[in-house]
Amino acid sequence: MAQSPAVLGTPRQRVDGKLTVTGTAVYASDFKVDGMAYGCLIQSTIASGTVVEIDQSEAEKAPGVIAILTRQNAPKLQALPEELTGNGEPGESRLPFQDDQVFFQGQHLGAVIAETFEQAREAAALVRVRYQPGELRTDLLGLADQAIEPRMWAGRTKLQDKRGDVDWVWANMPQVRLVDETYSTPIENHNPIEPGAALAVWDGTDHLMLHVSTRGVDLTQKVVAAAFGLPIENVRIVCPFIGGHFGSKGFSWSYFLVAVAAARIVNRPVRLVLSRPQMFDSMGQRARTIQTIGLAADENGKLAALKHSTLTHSSMIYQYTEPCGSLTRSVYSCPNVQINHRLVQLDFTTPCPMRAPGEAPGFFALESAMDELAVKLNIDPIEFRMRNYADKDEFDQRPWSSKHLKECYDRGAAKIGWSSRNPKPGSTKDPDGRLVGLGMATAVYPARQQPAAAKVILSKDGSIVVQSATHESGTGTYTMMTQFVADSLGVSMDRVRSELGDTQFPPAPVNGGSVLTASVGPAVVAACTALRDKLISLAVDGPSAALSGQAKTDIVITDGRISSAKDTSKSISFSDLLTNTGNQTLEAEGSAKPGDAYQKLAFFSFGAIFVEVKVDPDLGEVRVTRVVGVYDVGKVLNPLLARSQMLGGITFGIGMALMEGTIPDMATGRMVNANLAEYHVPVSTDVPPDFVVEFLDMPDTNMADNGARGLGEIGIVGAPAAIANAVYHATGKRIRDLPITPDKLV
Ligand code: MOS
Repeated sequence: MAQSPAVLGTPRQRVDGKLTVTGTAVYASDFKVDGMAYGCLIQSTIASGTVVEIDQSEAEKAPGVIAILTRQNAPKLQALPEELTGNGEPGESRLPFQDDQVFFQGQHLGAVIAETFEQAREAAALVRVRYQPGELRTDLLGLADQAIEPRMWAGRTKLQDKRGDVDWVWANMPQVRLVDETYSTPIENHNPIEPGAALAVWDGTDHLMLHVSTRGVDLTQKVVAAAFGLPIENVRIVCPFIGGHFGSKGFSWSYFLVAVAAARIVNRPVRLVLSRPQMFDSMGQRARTIQTIGLAADENGKLAALKHSTLTHSSMIYQYTEPCGSLTRSVYSCPNVQINHRLVQLDFTTPCPMRAPGEAPGFFALESAMDELAVKLNIDPIEFRMRNYADKDEFDQRPWSSKHLKECYDRGAAKIGWSSRNPKPGSTKDPDGRLVGLGMATAVYPARQQPAAAKVILSKDGSIVVQSATHESGTGTYTMMTQFVADSLGVSMDRVRSELGDTQFPPAPVNGGSVLTASVGPAVVAACTALRDKLISLAVDGPSAALSGQAKTDIVITDGRISSAKDTSKSISFSDLLTNTGNQTLEAEGSAKPGDAYQKLAFFSFGAIFVEVKVDPDLGEVRVTRVVGVYDVGKVLNPLLARSQMLGGITFGIGMALMEGTIPDMATGRMVNANLAEYHVPVSTDVPPDFVVEFLDMPDTNMADNGARGLGEIGIVGAPAAIANAVYHATGKRIRDLPITPDKLV
């Protein structure tokens, strides 16, 4: 491929870094258009019932109010097609303004549109809604007998599954057991820096431009076009930057449809931005999970049976299931496995993916249970995992595409100093009196590739633009695309500009499931290869061809020049070639999709996470004092950004383990801590300075082109269990209910 110095696999600063830190990057709520008005949502204050009357008389008289949007004057929205919301795909299938029913506290009943945001907000507070309250469903355990057993998650992952016969083993074999231990995780809410935000701009009544904070412009385009009955090409979605998403954004959410409807009725552009409290009811959440794990092993620590059952909830309007057991089938070698998910519909907002959906809470349970059984067996926790090492994916008996988990355990153990750990709980004390614990866990995350496309445009000045309808959520997509072009076409990165976040660009998947690099990267390479072929043809065959007579196979491309490998005097720059051939620009498109290997092999990333905690025995305060994470994610394309993603992922894990949790009021269905003062996320002082992230950097040769698998989300997987296991080691207390707050330890 390229003959220039490598750009893939070397640390590179973010190409958009300066824009983001200087505030010049444009986010959805930064876009301004002439005549823009502001919307503020009208939300239900009860969680269940019927709207009897919306009294807007006072609100109408408030200063600056242009109109009030409710079901009475809203445009009629069309039902979304099954493919967008069916089969467990995330996203609300119920559109706003369908009827007068209320299904959760905070449901969107309309919006006030005013000249300024403050006026809209003030007037929204003056809208009086009268309700006929309904029966309230908030008690997950109390309603467990009404649970359904959903079939699939996101249309592809089975939620009920088994191999072998767990019950027989349980009834007949006298192994060492961990009997139906229960692990639970609370409701968690997405709290990216940037809240949901939309600016809807109609052009006439049949063309729409929507700036919206989304990690799926293509999916959002389908949702909006379907809801408003527009031809898909009449809807353009633009989102060049996202201020994080935590797994939210990109599905069907009511708030941006309300913004579009508001712009329709006032015939002006409308900007609608969610407040922080609205992030707790308007854009998904992770549902509470109550998981039971049963494990049985022989005295040598070989697993004989593994059961993982999840009870969780969704809203009354959609059945989304947190897939906690999705990877339990694959992690360890075990002949008898049973996973099960049960779902209760409650009067809470609709959940959606959040930061390794399923794996994050699922591995808290599984990896805590593995630690517990290792203690019972009196086997070192790493040794116990090695005795159950899966040499293939026993879920469907497929070989791994590439797996070096053992090296992760070994390197991590050496780095954290595992061998000098006294396994006895409570045996290690700091000079300051704090209890010291070391814990570990396995991390696994699927490595997926999805179909994607890209376009490259070479200009006469030799610069190259690359476009794809993908997304930058702060993780480095702009940089990744730039690196791929620089590598493929042998130009320096500063000659390349990446453009993304626009439905006018070639299609790309939702930025989720850590799929982007493995999906968009190969598409960019394909586009570059197509451009390269065009350049070589022009240089060899074109009018006044500079390299005429040369064999195409002898042509090399480096430093923005096309040259003959045989005859070094024959050479032409990209710019001169375009000038000579009379082209202003030269474009090429390319696409990539998963190859045959995806049917035959099991693609996963792996890791081992180790933490040290110190626990104040009087105050119960847990501090994570050291972290060592070692990961096998295939080839690392940019060590600087890869490390940064893992720091973020593991920090998510610290938050999940020690502080995050949304508290519902069972009597009203309200979320009582819907703000960042009471819903805690980790800050810099919660993250230890001694934070080691390492990659094995072994290319997965079965992965498309470059051998890179996804990373990012794998960071949160296992981290909460490693912390809980370290807390057990420090204190002898096994905390099975997250977050591990001080009250649970004193
Ligand atoms: Mo992740 S929440 O699957 O983007």
